[in-house]
Amino acid sequence: MTPIIIAIDGYSSTGKGTFAVEIARRLGILYLDSGALYRTVTLYALQNGHIEWNGEIHDRRLQEDIFLGKIDISVMPKSDGTMRIFLGDEDVSGRVREMEVARNVSAIATLPFVRNFVDEQLHRLGAKGCVMDGRDIGTAVFPNADLKIFMTADAQIRAQRRVKQMEEAGGRPSFEEILKNVQERDYIDSHRAMNPLRQAEDAIVLDNSHMTVEEQMVWLDGILRERFNLSVL
Ligand code: DC
Repeated sequence: MTPIIIAIDGYSSTGKGTFAVEIARRLGILYLDSGALYRTVTLYALQNGHIEWNGEIHDRRLQEDIFLGKIDISVMPKSDGTMRIFLGDEDVSGRVREMEVARNVSAIATLPFVRNFVDEQLHRLGAKGCVMDGRDIGTAVFPNADLKIFMTADAQIRAQRRVKQMEEAGGRPSFEEILKNVQERDYIDSHRAMNPLRQAEDAIVLDNSHMTVEEQMVWLDGILRERFNLSVL
């Protein structure tokens, strides 16, 4: 396996996951979705009554559970480049995508003890080489990553993409609600005190508002060839 670490950061629903999975599959390296770890902690908190119906978080109780090692997260790579994520023995890959998790995850991801916990897990899982996507991978988790990409796209286009994804999964989402969720998450992600979403100084920006995945691969291929003598085409 190529021991390369590629950090992909950016706004929610910019297609970081799709892009990262495709890179992992083509280079034969591990893909790690850091957002899925925050979502799994959020699911745990919901399942254990640490989040009230109005969004209030009992952070002391959550912190205690983390401290006691009660949140057992593991991942399993799939041959198509994606990963499955487990909470204890349960495969929660589907459940962490549900709207209730999406509504609460940004607030959970602002808690410093949650960020420390997730960072530890990400280091443990990705140290030997990976493509990791998230918000603070190139700035905080792997500041020495071999390659850093910062992804952005128009909010309306991102909301449309998410609506399409949810429709394909059998849901009937409202565009307005999704757009609001995308904008709220942008705000929370960029304004939290600890490790906010921001572009690393040495990151390369990719605005994919009007690009297909294949066009993004061609773009990346130029960089990989020049810097690492690797190809994704
Ligand atoms: O990428 P996503 O939508 O699955 O991310 C879920 C949430 O987790 C999102 O609100 C931001 C947060 N997150 C974060 O704060 N830091 C990361 N490295 C990844 C995700």
